[in-house]
Amino acid sequence: MIYLDHNATTPIDERVLETMLPFLQVFYGNPSSLYRHGRLVRSAIDSAREQVAALVGVQPTQVIFTSGGTEANNLALTAIKWGSSLAISAVEHPSISEPAENWAKLGCDVKLIGVDHNGLVTQDAITDTIRHGPTLVSIMLANNETGVIQDVASFTQQLRAKGIVVLTDAVQAVGKIPVNYNHLGVNMMTLSSHKIYGPKGCGALIFDKATHIKPLLWGGGQEQGYRAGTENAPAIIGFGKAAELAALELAQRAERLLKLRKFLEDRLMAIPGITIFAKDTERLPNTVQFGIEGMDGEMLLMKLDQKGIAVSSGSACASGGGKPSPVLAAMGVSSGLAKSAIRISLGKGNTETEIIEFTDLLQTLVIPG
Ligand SMILES: Cc1ncc(COP(=O)(O)O)c(C=O)c1O
Repeated sequence: MIYLDHNATTPIDERVLETMLPFLQVFYGNPSSLYRHGRLVRSAIDSAREQVAALVGVQPTQVIFTSGGTEANNLALTAIKWGSSLAISAVEHPSISEPAENWAKLGCDVKLIGVDHNGLVTQDAITDTIRHGPTLVSIMLANNETGVIQDVASFTQQLRAKGIVVLTDAVQAVGKIPVNYNHLGVNMMTLSSHKIYGPKGCGALIFDKATHIKPLLWGGGQEQGYRAGTENAPAIIGFGKAAELAALELAQRAERLLKLRKFLEDRLMAIPGITIFAKDTERLPNTVQFGIEGMDGEMLLMKLDQKGIAVSSGSACASGGGKPSPVLAAMGVSSGLAKSAIRISLGKGNTETEIIEFTDLLQTLVIPG
């Protein structure tokens, strides 16, 4: 298989798996148990917390482990006060936009922050948002479909000056570009392990103590009382190792991926009728989303799948729904072109040979005969 869908999920890094195995096989103690067998697991979780904290430049106490990016985003949104208002960018992941829709049904005023044709939040939209004065604003750092990177630091400065709480979903950004919580100036940031070669079912909310979040799960008081439930120790420990490796290898991974992405884009542009979305905008080094007028993205995905090539026809969560991507719609892409969208997200294991094989096949599928 040629796997070109790393924004959906990444294969687990061998070194991460090795770190996790003893905590599945030997050290199975409950980290809350006071005897040695439990204390040992607690200590490994503490190290993982330090590793994740170091990746984004925060104190370990600012990290709350969750079951993934989705839970971290839902937990962050509990900072909204009852009856107050919320503003989210028009290109957020469903783990932000769906709870926001639910908040709207419960009577919360929810506004969308518009983006331009490149998927970038505009200064006008921020000025407008500030005028409405929401309690909380959510702007993702990098988009899962287009890879477009937002200028979160500059928006945060303006929003926080007005006392607005800022959340950024950094699930796709972290491990691909440098991400520093303090540099971005946000109140909250969310991460996911399985996007950085860690195990699935683990993520984190990074927060400051001045931001009043409320637990989604109540129970034994784990994670400083913000996320009860016996910790998923092997996954947390794997996430920690993945975070350590991401920090160590970030520059080298990003440089290699960017080269490979440019190689892919040159070959894509040689195929007639292809539009690369947000082509000249700052994007993640691994992500390219394109459309081909007149084609059906999901049909194309199936044909590529038959040849052993895994790509996405939009965000993984939305695929299969048959609806054009809300992200592309927000960018003003016509529904015909949006329905033809294919997302390629490269990973550290991909090679030029794979790109050649993929683009050669794509060419035959786009121009039959
Ligand atoms: C931008 C973004 N946020 C959040 C999530 C959800 O993360 P998880 O799969 O860990 O729940 C994803 C997953 O695709 C994502 O791409």
